[in-house]
Amino acid sequence: MERTKVARLLASEPGREVLAKGWVRTKRESSNVAFVHLNDGSTINNIQIVCDRKEFADELSRISTGACIGVTGRLEASKGSGQAVEIQAGKIEIYGECDPNSYPLQKKGHTMEFLREHANLRPRTNTFGAVLRIRHNMAFAIHKFFNDKGFYYLNTPLITASDCEGAGDMFQVTTLPLDNVPRCEDGSIDYSKDFFGTHTSLTVSGQLEGELGATALGEIYTFGPTFRAENSNTPRHLAEFWMIEPEMAFYDIKDNMDLAEEFIKYLVKWALDNCQDDLQFLNDHFDKELLKRLEGIGDEDFARITYTDGIDILEDAVAHGHKFDVPVQWGMDLQSEHERYLVEQHYGKPVIVTDYPKDIKAFYMKQNEDGKTVRGMDVLFPKIGEIIGGSERESDYGKLVSRIDELHMNHDTLEWYLDTRRFGTCPHSGFGIGFERLLMFVTGMENIRDVIPFPRTPGNVKF
Ligand code: 4AD
Ligand code: MG
Repeated sequence: MERTKVARLLASEPGREVLAKGWVRTKRESSNVAFVHLNDGSTINNIQIVCDRKEFADELSRISTGACIGVTGRLEASKGSGQAVEIQAGKIEIYGECDPNSYPLQKKGHTMEFLREHANLRPRTNTFGAVLRIRHNMAFAIHKFFNDKGFYYLNTPLITASDCEGAGDMFQVTTLPLDNVPRCEDGSIDYSKDFFGTHTSLTVSGQLEGELGATALGEIYTFGPTFRAENSNTPRHLAEFWMIEPEMAFYDIKDNMDLAEEFIKYLVKWALDNCQDDLQFLNDHFDKELLKRLEGIGDEDFARITYTDGIDILEDAVAHGHKFDVPVQWGMDLQSEHERYLVEQHYGKPVIVTDYPKDIKAFYMKQNEDGKTVRGMDVLFPKIGEIIGGSERESDYGKLVSRIDELHMNHDTLEWYLDTRRFGTCPHSGFGIGFERLLMFVTGMENIRDVIPFPRTPGNVKF
Protein backbone atom coordinates (compact mmCIF):
# COMPACT_ATOMS: atom_id res chain seq x y z
CA MET A 1 0.00 0.00 0.00
CA GLU A 2 1.15 3.52 -0.77
CA ARG A 3 2.02 5.79 2.13
CA THR A 4 -0.13 8.86 2.75
CA LYS A 5 1.38 11.86 4.52
CA VAL A 6 -0.12 12.84 7.84
CA ALA A 7 -1.16 16.29 6.61
CA ARG A 8 -3.35 14.61 3.97
CA LEU A 9 -4.67 11.97 6.34
CA LEU A 10 -5.83 14.61 8.81
CA ALA A 11 -7.70 16.42 6.05
CA SER A 12 -9.36 13.34 4.56
CA GLU A 13 -12.65 11.58 5.14
CA PRO A 14 -12.61 8.48 7.35
CA GLY A 15 -13.48 5.01 6.09
CA ARG A 16 -10.52 3.56 4.18
CA GLU A 17 -7.31 1.58 4.67
CA VAL A 18 -4.23 3.78 4.93
CA LEU A 19 -0.51 3.54 5.57
CA ALA A 20 1.20 6.21 7.66
CA LYS A 21 4.92 6.42 8.37
CA GLY A 22 6.70 8.70 10.80
CA TRP A 23 8.31 9.22 14.19
CA VAL A 24 6.55 8.60 17.47
CA ARG A 25 5.93 11.69 19.51
CA THR A 26 4.14 10.11 22.45
CA LYS A 27 2.75 6.78 23.56
CA ARG A 28 0.02 6.53 26.17
CA GLU A 29 -1.43 3.25 27.41
CA SER A 30 -4.84 2.76 28.99
CA SER A 31 -6.48 -0.48 30.07
CA ASN A 32 -7.16 -2.09 26.68
CA VAL A 33 -5.70 0.24 24.11
CA ALA A 34 -2.61 2.35 23.56
CA PHE A 35 -2.53 5.73 21.80
CA VAL A 36 0.51 6.53 19.74
CA HIS A 37 0.91 10.00 18.29
CA LEU A 38 2.80 9.93 15.03
CA ASN A 39 4.41 12.86 13.22
CA ASP A 40 6.02 12.79 9.77
CA GLY A 41 6.96 16.45 9.37
CA SER A 42 4.25 17.21 6.83
CA THR A 43 2.34 19.19 9.45
CA ILE A 44 2.75 20.22 13.05
CA ASN A 45 -0.22 17.99 13.89
CA ASN A 46 0.13 14.31 14.77
CA ILE A 47 -2.08 11.46 13.70
CA GLN A 48 -3.37 9.34 16.55
CA ILE A 49 -2.87 5.59 16.20
CA VAL A 50 -5.12 3.43 18.31
CA CYS A 51 -3.60 0.00 19.07
CA ASP A 52 -5.07 -2.96 20.83
CA ARG A 53 -2.68 -3.61 23.73
CA LYS A 54 -2.90 -7.40 23.57
CA GLU A 55 -2.59 -7.67 19.82
CA PHE A 56 0.39 -5.30 19.65
CA ALA A 57 2.02 -6.12 23.00
CA ASP A 58 5.38 -6.86 21.37
CA GLU A 59 5.37 -3.79 19.08
CA LEU A 60 4.24 -1.50 21.89
CA SER A 61 7.04 -2.68 24.12
CA ARG A 62 9.51 -1.56 21.43
CA ILE A 63 7.84 1.76 20.64
CA SER A 64 8.86 4.90 22.51
CA THR A 65 9.26 8.61 21.77
CA GLY A 66 11.48 9.02 18.72
CA ALA A 67 10.98 5.53 17.27
CA CYS A 68 10.26 5.32 13.55
CA ILE A 69 7.28 3.18 12.53
CA GLY A 70 4.89 2.43 9.72
CA VAL A 71 1.25 1.75 10.53
CA THR A 72 -1.34 0.19 8.26
CA GLY A 73 -4.92 0.42 9.41
CA ARG A 74 -8.34 1.93 8.98
CA LEU A 75 -8.79 5.68 9.05
CA GLU A 76 -11.76 6.22 11.33
CA ALA A 77 -13.68 9.10 12.83
CA SER A 78 -12.03 9.70 16.20
CA LYS A 79 -13.97 8.89 19.33
CA GLY A 80 -11.81 11.16 21.42
CA SER A 81 -11.60 14.92 21.28
CA GLY A 82 -8.65 16.74 19.75
CA GLN A 83 -8.68 15.11 16.33
CA ALA A 84 -11.27 14.38 13.65
CA VAL A 85 -9.72 11.14 12.45
CA GLU A 86 -7.43 8.45 13.82
CA ILE A 87 -5.95 5.18 12.59
CA GLN A 88 -7.14 1.91 14.04
CA ALA A 89 -3.88 -0.06 13.78
CA GLY A 90 -4.00 -3.31 11.75
CA LYS A 91 -0.27 -3.78 11.34
CA ILE A 92 2.74 -1.98 12.80
CA GLU A 93 6.20 -2.17 11.28
CA ILE A 94 9.06 -0.84 13.35
CA TYR A 95 11.79 0.72 11.20
CA GLY A 96 13.91 2.01 14.06
CA GLU A 97 13.65 1.74 17.81
CA CYS A 98 14.73 4.68 19.93
CA ASP A 99 16.32 4.00 23.30
CA PRO A 100 14.48 6.22 25.81
CA ASN A 101 17.48 6.17 28.13
CA SER A 102 19.77 7.87 25.64
CA TYR A 103 17.43 9.79 23.30
CA PRO A 104 17.89 13.46 24.24
CA LEU A 105 14.40 14.63 23.25
CA GLN A 106 11.72 13.71 25.73
CA LYS A 107 8.01 14.35 25.86
CA LYS A 108 8.47 17.35 28.11
CA GLY A 109 9.42 20.69 26.61
CA HIS A 110 13.11 21.56 26.43
CA THR A 111 14.78 24.95 26.70
CA MET A 112 15.97 26.60 23.50
CA GLU A 113 19.55 26.42 24.81
CA PHE A 114 19.25 22.67 25.31
CA LEU A 115 17.87 22.25 21.81
CA ARG A 116 20.72 24.29 20.32
CA GLU A 117 23.13 21.80 21.84
CA HIS A 118 21.15 19.08 20.08
CA ALA A 119 20.66 20.91 16.80
CA ASN A 120 21.12 17.62 14.94
CA LEU A 121 17.85 16.32 16.40
CA ARG A 122 15.87 19.48 17.08
CA PRO A 123 14.15 19.46 13.65
CA ARG A 124 12.06 16.66 15.20
CA THR A 125 10.54 18.99 17.77
CA ASN A 126 7.27 20.83 17.21
CA THR A 127 8.95 24.20 17.45
CA PHE A 128 11.66 23.53 14.89
CA GLY A 129 9.32 21.66 12.61
CA ALA A 130 7.17 24.80 12.58
CA VAL A 131 10.13 27.13 12.06
CA LEU A 132 11.61 25.01 9.26
CA ARG A 133 8.32 24.69 7.41
CA ILE A 134 7.85 28.45 7.64
CA ARG A 135 11.43 28.94 6.45
CA HIS A 136 10.70 26.83 3.38
CA ASN A 137 7.46 28.67 2.69
CA MET A 138 9.20 32.03 2.92
CA ALA A 139 11.95 30.93 0.52
CA PHE A 140 9.30 29.79 -1.94
CA ALA A 141 7.35 33.05 -1.58
CA ILE A 142 10.51 35.08 -2.19
CA HIS A 143 11.11 33.36 -5.52
CA LYS A 144 7.44 33.73 -6.40
CA PHE A 145 7.34 37.42 -5.54
CA PHE A 146 10.30 38.24 -7.75
CA ASN A 147 9.39 35.86 -10.55
CA ASP A 148 5.89 37.38 -10.77
CA LYS A 149 7.50 40.81 -11.10
CA GLY A 150 9.87 39.75 -13.88
CA PHE A 151 13.04 39.74 -11.78
CA TYR A 152 15.70 37.16 -12.66
CA TYR A 153 17.35 34.96 -10.04
CA LEU A 154 21.10 35.57 -10.38
CA ASN A 155 23.59 33.26 -8.72
CA THR A 156 26.56 35.21 -7.46
CA PRO A 157 29.84 33.65 -6.30
CA LEU A 158 30.61 32.72 -2.72
CA ILE A 159 34.37 33.01 -3.15
CA THR A 160 35.50 36.53 -3.90
CA ALA A 161 38.59 38.69 -4.23
CA SER A 162 36.78 41.94 -3.28
CA ASP A 163 35.21 43.30 -0.09
CA CYS A 164 31.72 44.56 -0.93
CA GLU A 165 30.90 46.20 2.35
CA GLY A 166 34.48 47.35 2.98
CA ALA A 167 34.03 46.28 6.57
CA GLY A 168 36.83 43.71 6.48
CA ASP A 169 34.98 41.06 8.48
CA MET A 170 35.74 38.31 5.97
CA PHE A 171 36.69 34.65 6.24
CA GLN A 172 39.80 33.98 4.23
CA VAL A 173 39.78 31.18 1.66
CA THR A 174 43.18 29.63 1.05
CA THR A 175 44.97 26.42 0.20
CA LEU A 176 48.34 27.78 1.29
CA PRO A 177 50.04 25.60 3.91
CA LEU A 178 49.47 27.53 7.13
CA ASP A 179 52.52 25.98 8.80
CA ASN A 180 54.80 27.07 5.96
CA VAL A 181 53.35 30.10 4.21
CA PRO A 182 55.22 31.25 1.08
CA ARG A 183 56.65 34.76 1.46
CA CYS A 184 57.61 37.54 -0.94
CA GLU A 185 61.03 39.18 -0.65
CA ASP A 186 59.59 41.91 1.59
CA GLY A 187 58.28 39.26 3.98
CA SER A 188 54.60 39.62 3.05
CA ILE A 189 52.55 36.54 2.15
CA ASP A 190 52.93 35.50 -1.49
CA TYR A 191 49.32 35.07 -2.57
CA SER A 192 50.38 34.48 -6.15
CA LYS A 193 51.08 30.94 -4.93
CA ASP A 194 47.54 30.57 -3.52
CA PHE A 195 44.80 28.61 -5.30
CA PHE A 196 43.38 31.61 -7.20
CA GLY A 197 46.70 33.41 -7.46
CA THR A 198 45.43 36.17 -5.21
CA HIS A 199 43.97 36.80 -1.76
CA THR A 200 40.40 35.47 -1.54
CA SER A 201 37.57 35.32 0.99
CA LEU A 202 34.01 34.12 1.43
CA THR A 203 31.64 36.82 0.26
CA VAL A 204 29.80 39.17 2.63
CA SER A 205 27.29 40.09 -0.08
CA GLY A 206 26.41 39.31 -3.68
CA GLN A 207 25.64 42.93 -4.43
CA LEU A 208 28.59 43.90 -6.62
CA GLU A 209 27.94 41.04 -9.02
CA GLY A 210 24.23 41.72 -8.59
CA GLU A 211 24.83 45.19 -10.03
CA LEU A 212 26.43 43.60 -13.10
CA GLY A 213 23.25 41.59 -13.52
CA ALA A 214 20.91 44.53 -13.02
CA THR A 215 22.77 46.68 -15.55
CA ALA A 216 22.19 43.98 -18.14
CA LEU A 217 19.00 42.11 -17.25
CA GLY A 218 17.22 45.08 -15.67
CA GLU A 219 15.97 43.56 -12.44
CA ILE A 220 17.63 40.68 -10.64
CA TYR A 221 17.76 39.19 -7.18
CA THR A 222 20.23 36.96 -5.43
CA PHE A 223 19.35 34.52 -2.68
CA GLY A 224 22.26 32.73 -1.12
CA PRO A 225 24.54 32.30 1.85
CA THR A 226 26.82 35.13 2.96
CA PHE A 227 29.57 35.06 5.54
CA ARG A 228 30.73 37.54 8.14
CA ALA A 229 33.56 37.00 10.56
CA GLU A 230 32.37 39.70 12.96
CA ASN A 231 32.93 38.42 16.45
CA SER A 232 29.51 39.55 17.63
CA ASN A 233 27.79 37.07 19.88
CA THR A 234 24.33 38.64 19.76
CA PRO A 235 20.88 37.13 19.25
CA ARG A 236 20.79 38.85 15.83
CA HIS A 237 24.12 37.89 14.24
CA LEU A 238 25.26 34.76 12.46
CA ALA A 239 28.64 34.12 10.85
CA GLU A 240 26.83 32.35 7.99
CA PHE A 241 23.44 33.74 7.03
CA TRP A 242 21.28 33.88 3.94
CA MET A 243 20.63 37.13 2.18
CA ILE A 244 18.23 38.13 -0.56
CA GLU A 245 19.53 41.03 -2.63
CA PRO A 246 17.34 42.57 -5.33
CA GLU A 247 19.08 45.04 -7.62
CA MET A 248 17.13 47.19 -10.09
CA ALA A 249 18.14 49.40 -13.00
CA PHE A 250 16.28 52.74 -13.16
CA TYR A 251 15.04 52.59 -9.54
CA ASP A 252 15.71 55.60 -7.34
CA ILE A 253 15.69 55.51 -3.55
CA LYS A 254 11.94 56.05 -3.40
CA ASP A 255 11.29 53.12 -5.76
CA ASN A 256 13.70 51.09 -3.65
CA MET A 257 11.77 51.86 -0.45
CA ASP A 258 8.46 51.07 -2.12
CA LEU A 259 9.75 47.69 -3.28
CA ALA A 260 11.18 46.83 0.15
CA GLU A 261 7.88 47.65 1.86
CA GLU A 262 5.77 45.78 -0.69
CA PHE A 263 8.12 42.79 -0.45
CA ILE A 264 7.95 42.44 3.33
CA LYS A 265 4.18 42.89 3.38
CA TYR A 266 3.81 40.24 0.69
CA LEU A 267 5.93 37.76 2.64
CA VAL A 268 4.10 38.32 5.91
CA LYS A 269 0.76 37.89 4.17
CA TRP A 270 2.05 34.72 2.52
CA ALA A 271 2.99 33.33 5.91
CA LEU A 272 -0.42 34.19 7.37
CA ASP A 273 -2.18 32.57 4.40
CA ASN A 274 -0.02 29.46 4.08
CA CYS A 275 1.47 28.64 7.49
CA GLN A 276 -1.56 28.95 9.75
CA ASP A 277 -1.05 25.86 11.90
CA ASP A 278 2.63 26.54 12.47
CA LEU A 279 2.09 30.22 13.26
CA GLN A 280 -0.76 29.35 15.61
CA PHE A 281 1.52 26.93 17.45
CA LEU A 282 4.27 29.53 17.80
CA ASN A 283 1.71 32.10 18.88
CA ASP A 284 0.32 29.77 21.54
CA HIS A 285 3.66 28.55 22.88
CA PHE A 286 6.14 31.40 22.48
CA ASP A 287 4.74 34.77 21.67
CA LYS A 288 1.09 35.56 22.31
CA GLU A 289 1.38 38.76 20.26
CA LEU A 290 2.85 37.10 17.16
CA LEU A 291 -0.26 36.82 15.01
CA LYS A 292 -1.42 40.27 16.02
CA ARG A 293 1.94 41.73 15.09
CA LEU A 294 1.99 39.96 11.73
CA GLU A 295 -1.55 40.97 10.90
CA GLY A 296 -0.74 44.57 11.81
CA ILE A 297 2.06 44.80 9.26
CA GLY A 298 -0.23 44.84 6.24
CA ASP A 299 -2.42 47.64 7.58
CA GLU A 300 -0.01 50.49 8.01
CA ASP A 301 2.50 52.35 5.88
CA PHE A 302 6.01 52.13 7.24
CA ALA A 303 7.27 55.44 8.65
CA ARG A 304 9.89 57.08 6.41
CA ILE A 305 12.38 59.47 7.95
CA THR A 306 15.88 60.74 7.29
CA TYR A 307 18.74 59.85 9.58
CA THR A 308 18.86 63.52 10.64
CA ASP A 309 15.15 63.39 11.62
CA GLY A 310 15.91 60.21 13.55
CA ILE A 311 18.71 61.87 15.50
CA ASP A 312 16.37 64.78 16.31
CA ILE A 313 13.77 62.34 17.69
CA LEU A 314 16.40 60.53 19.77
CA GLU A 315 17.85 63.81 21.11
CA ASP A 316 14.37 64.89 22.02
CA ALA A 317 13.86 61.61 23.88
CA VAL A 318 17.08 62.21 25.80
CA ALA A 319 15.94 65.76 26.62
CA HIS A 320 12.77 64.22 28.08
CA GLY A 321 14.75 61.86 30.32
CA HIS A 322 15.18 58.74 28.17
CA LYS A 323 18.55 57.06 28.78
CA PHE A 324 20.59 55.31 26.07
CA ASP A 325 23.80 53.36 26.77
CA VAL A 326 25.50 54.94 23.76
CA PRO A 327 25.07 58.75 23.67
CA VAL A 328 23.16 60.20 20.72
CA GLN A 329 25.14 62.35 18.33
CA TRP A 330 24.82 63.19 14.62
CA GLY A 331 27.31 61.04 12.73
CA MET A 332 27.04 58.00 14.99
CA ASP A 333 26.01 54.58 13.74
CA LEU A 334 22.58 53.88 15.22
CA GLN A 335 22.79 51.13 17.81
CA SER A 336 20.10 48.57 18.32
CA GLU A 337 18.74 50.52 21.32
CA HIS A 338 18.28 53.62 19.12
CA GLU A 339 16.68 51.71 16.29
CA ARG A 340 14.30 50.03 18.68
CA TYR A 341 13.39 53.31 20.33
CA LEU A 342 12.38 54.76 16.96
CA VAL A 343 10.41 51.68 15.98
CA GLU A 344 8.89 50.51 19.25
CA GLN A 345 8.48 53.66 21.31
CA HIS A 346 8.25 56.55 18.88
CA TYR A 347 6.42 55.24 15.83
CA GLY A 348 5.06 51.88 16.97
CA LYS A 349 5.59 50.46 13.48
CA PRO A 350 8.41 49.69 11.01
CA VAL A 351 10.56 52.66 10.07
CA ILE A 352 12.67 53.28 6.96
CA VAL A 353 15.61 55.56 7.68
CA THR A 354 17.38 57.22 4.73
CA ASP A 355 20.21 59.65 4.03
CA TYR A 356 22.82 58.43 6.47
CA PRO A 357 26.18 60.14 7.07
CA LYS A 358 28.50 58.89 4.35
CA ASP A 359 31.21 57.97 6.84
CA ILE A 360 29.18 55.14 8.35
CA LYS A 361 28.02 53.63 5.06
CA ALA A 362 29.60 51.64 2.22
CA PHE A 363 31.46 53.21 -0.71
CA TYR A 364 28.85 52.42 -3.37
CA MET A 365 25.99 54.53 -1.99
CA LYS A 366 24.86 57.55 -4.00
CA GLN A 367 26.26 60.76 -2.57
CA ASN A 368 23.83 63.55 -1.76
CA GLU A 369 24.35 67.18 -2.77
CA ASP A 370 25.14 68.20 0.81
CA GLY A 371 28.49 66.38 0.66
CA LYS A 372 27.78 64.79 4.04
CA THR A 373 25.10 62.17 3.50
CA VAL A 374 24.39 59.27 1.15
CA ARG A 375 21.16 57.85 -0.24
CA GLY A 376 21.21 54.73 1.89
CA MET A 377 18.19 53.18 3.52
CA ASP A 378 17.76 50.84 6.45
CA VAL A 379 14.43 49.23 7.25
CA LEU A 380 14.00 48.87 11.02
CA PHE A 381 11.61 46.40 12.58
CA PRO A 382 10.11 45.90 16.02
CA LYS A 383 12.13 43.55 18.28
CA ILE A 384 14.80 43.09 15.61
CA GLY A 385 16.14 46.45 14.55
CA GLU A 386 17.72 46.46 11.10
CA ILE A 387 16.14 43.91 8.79
CA ILE A 388 17.11 45.52 5.46
CA GLY A 389 20.09 47.59 4.36
CA GLY A 390 20.20 49.14 0.91
CA SER A 391 20.68 52.27 -1.16
CA GLU A 392 20.50 54.02 -4.42
CA ARG A 393 23.93 53.38 -5.98
CA GLU A 394 26.48 55.99 -6.99
CA SER A 395 26.25 55.82 -10.77
CA ASP A 396 28.78 58.57 -11.49
CA TYR A 397 32.18 57.08 -12.28
CA GLY A 398 34.19 60.04 -11.00
CA LYS A 399 32.34 60.34 -7.72
CA LEU A 400 32.52 56.61 -7.10
CA VAL A 401 36.27 56.49 -7.75
CA SER A 402 36.96 59.44 -5.46
CA ARG A 403 35.01 57.71 -2.69
CA ILE A 404 37.02 54.50 -3.21
CA ASP A 405 40.20 56.60 -2.93
CA GLU A 406 39.00 58.46 0.16
CA LEU A 407 38.42 55.11 1.84
CA HIS A 408 41.83 53.80 0.70
CA MET A 409 40.16 50.81 -0.91
CA ASN A 410 42.03 48.62 -3.38
CA HIS A 411 41.16 49.65 -6.98
CA ASP A 412 42.58 46.52 -8.53
CA THR A 413 39.94 44.27 -7.04
CA LEU A 414 37.15 46.62 -8.18
CA GLU A 415 38.06 47.50 -11.78
CA TRP A 416 35.61 44.96 -13.16
CA TYR A 417 32.86 46.54 -11.04
CA LEU A 418 33.75 50.06 -12.18
CA ASP A 419 33.06 48.97 -15.75
CA THR A 420 29.34 49.27 -14.92
CA ARG A 421 29.96 53.02 -14.49
CA ARG A 422 32.40 53.28 -17.41
CA PHE A 423 30.18 51.67 -20.00
CA GLY A 424 26.58 52.85 -20.19
CA THR A 425 26.14 53.67 -16.52
CA CYS A 426 22.57 53.95 -15.27
CA PRO A 427 20.76 55.04 -12.14
CA HIS A 428 20.01 51.96 -10.05
CA SER A 429 19.22 50.79 -6.55
CA GLY A 430 19.01 47.69 -4.45
CA PHE A 431 18.86 46.28 -0.98
CA GLY A 432 19.71 43.24 1.08
CA ILE A 433 17.38 41.54 3.52
CA GLY A 434 18.76 39.06 6.02
CA PHE A 435 16.66 35.92 5.58
CA GLU A 436 17.07 34.91 9.22
CA ARG A 437 16.19 38.39 10.50
CA LEU A 438 13.01 38.19 8.43
CA LEU A 439 12.30 34.75 9.89
CA MET A 440 12.80 36.06 13.41
CA PHE A 441 10.04 38.53 12.73
CA VAL A 442 7.73 36.01 11.08
CA THR A 443 8.20 33.25 13.67
CA GLY A 444 8.63 35.42 16.77
CA MET A 445 11.82 33.52 17.68
CA GLU A 446 14.04 35.76 19.75
CA ASN A 447 17.38 34.23 18.88
CA ILE A 448 18.63 34.08 15.30
CA ARG A 449 20.21 30.69 16.08
CA ASP A 450 16.69 29.28 16.27
CA VAL A 451 15.55 30.15 12.75
CA ILE A 452 18.34 28.42 10.80
CA PRO A 453 18.74 24.63 10.94
CA PHE A 454 22.44 24.57 11.75
CA PRO A 455 23.71 27.93 13.02
CA ARG A 456 27.27 29.14 12.62
CA THR A 457 28.40 31.56 15.31
CA PRO A 458 31.80 32.16 16.93
CA GLY A 459 32.95 28.83 18.38
CA ASN A 460 29.92 26.95 17.11
CA VAL A 461 30.28 24.73 14.04
CA LYS A 462 29.47 21.25 15.31
CA PHE A 463 26.55 20.17 13.17
O1 4AD B 1 23.28 46.09 5.74
P1 4AD B 1 24.07 45.01 5.08
O2 4AD B 1 25.47 44.82 5.51
O3 4AD B 1 23.99 45.34 3.52
C1 4AD B 1 24.62 44.70 2.53
O4 4AD B 1 25.29 43.71 2.64
C2 4AD B 1 24.32 45.27 1.17
N1 4AD B 1 25.32 44.76 0.22
C3 4AD B 1 22.92 44.92 0.76
C4 4AD B 1 22.53 45.50 -0.56
O5 4AD B 1 22.33 46.68 -0.67
N2 4AD B 1 22.40 44.67 -1.59
O6 4AD B 1 23.32 43.62 5.22
C5 4AD B 1 21.98 43.47 4.75
C6 4AD B 1 21.14 42.73 5.75
C7 4AD B 1 21.01 43.42 7.09
O7 4AD B 1 20.03 44.43 7.05
C8 4AD B 1 20.62 42.27 7.99
O8 4AD B 1 19.24 41.96 7.85
C9 4AD B 1 21.41 41.12 7.40
O9 4AD B 1 21.73 41.48 6.07
N3 4AD B 1 22.64 40.88 8.15
C10 4AD B 1 22.83 39.85 8.98
N4 4AD B 1 22.01 38.85 9.37
C11 4AD B 1 22.48 37.94 10.23
N5 4AD B 1 23.74 37.95 10.74
C12 4AD B 1 24.61 38.93 10.37
N6 4AD B 1 25.85 38.91 10.85
C13 4AD B 1 24.16 39.94 9.47
N7 4AD B 1 24.73 41.02 8.90
C14 4AD B 1 23.80 41.57 8.11
MG1 MG C 1 23.43 47.37 7.30
